[in-house]
Amino acid sequence: MAVWNLGSINIDNAYRVPHLPGPGETLSATAHQQGLGGKGANMSVAIARGAGRVTHIGAVGGDGAWTVERLMEYGVDTRSIATMRGEATGHANIAVAEDGENQIIIYPGTNGMITEEMIGAALSTASPGDTLVTQNETNGQLYAAQIAKQLGLRVVYAAAPFDAAAVEAVLPFVDLLVLNEVEAEQLQAALGKDLSDLGIDDIVVTLGGDGSRWINVSAGTETHVSAIPVTPVDTTGAGDTFTGFLIAGLDRGLPMAQALSLATQAGALMVTRLGTADVIPDLKDIEDARLT
Ligand code: RIB
Repeated sequence: MAVWNLGSINIDNAYRVPHLPGPGETLSATAHQQGLGGKGANMSVAIARGAGRVTHIGAVGGDGAWTVERLMEYGVDTRSIATMRGEATGHANIAVAEDGENQIIIYPGTNGMITEEMIGAALSTASPGDTLVTQNETNGQLYAAQIAKQLGLRVVYAAAPFDAAAVEAVLPFVDLLVLNEVEAEQLQAALGKDLSDLGIDDIVVTLGGDGSRWINVSAGTETHVSAIPVTPVDTTGAGDTFTGFLIAGLDRGLPMAQALSLATQAGALMVTRLGTADVIPDLKDIEDARLT
């Protein structure tokens, strides 16, 4: 099977700071690094590193040629990424504090310029049983989810950055929803429904240091997956890594419990690394780390 990822591609500028800046505060960074990022690109790299076959659907500007090359080097099929000369690639300014917490500002750039034609052309070569994943950093999410559902793909929605209206719009087409605990509460409050009444069979709620829980509505089960304790260096991209490995595992035919275990190990290892797409671990790193 294969994974199709309609997702953002960002140029990430990460700044190491003593603490996250408050309103009106000017801070001097102790380190700066630029790399490949964006929730979408991070997930594509994680899927590839988790041994999944992934095509990224997205767009970059003239300044983003290197991000496409890098995705290709990392094993992602980049033929459905458009280059829009004269436009700016999406970028993110990320402050990373000593305790690993972050604060992110994103500028969408070309992530908001993806056309229905581009999405349709890419998905026209998908097969039933493939997976579509999308997040909330590009336009075209609803169109992609509708088309993918019609074509018999499994649709995964990672509800980040969270926006209740965006989630509500795609809900009828989603098979697996991934979101964090705060987002889950916000969604339930916005829709006035429990997670188990959303009409989605599988929901994974990430709980940070407490692991994750998987709700399978048709079986009426809720399974808790424990976190793996690590000392955080940088939490940026850990959620994307978790979701990417989860999707890669499911697409390779692993049962949900096994895919969740792999995703948990990948996410934990990612938290110990500084950076985003460029430092996402692969299966060998995970095996070597033997995190428990
Ligand atoms: O989830 C981390 C990502 O959020 C970063 O790579 C940044 O680009 C923003 O999209």
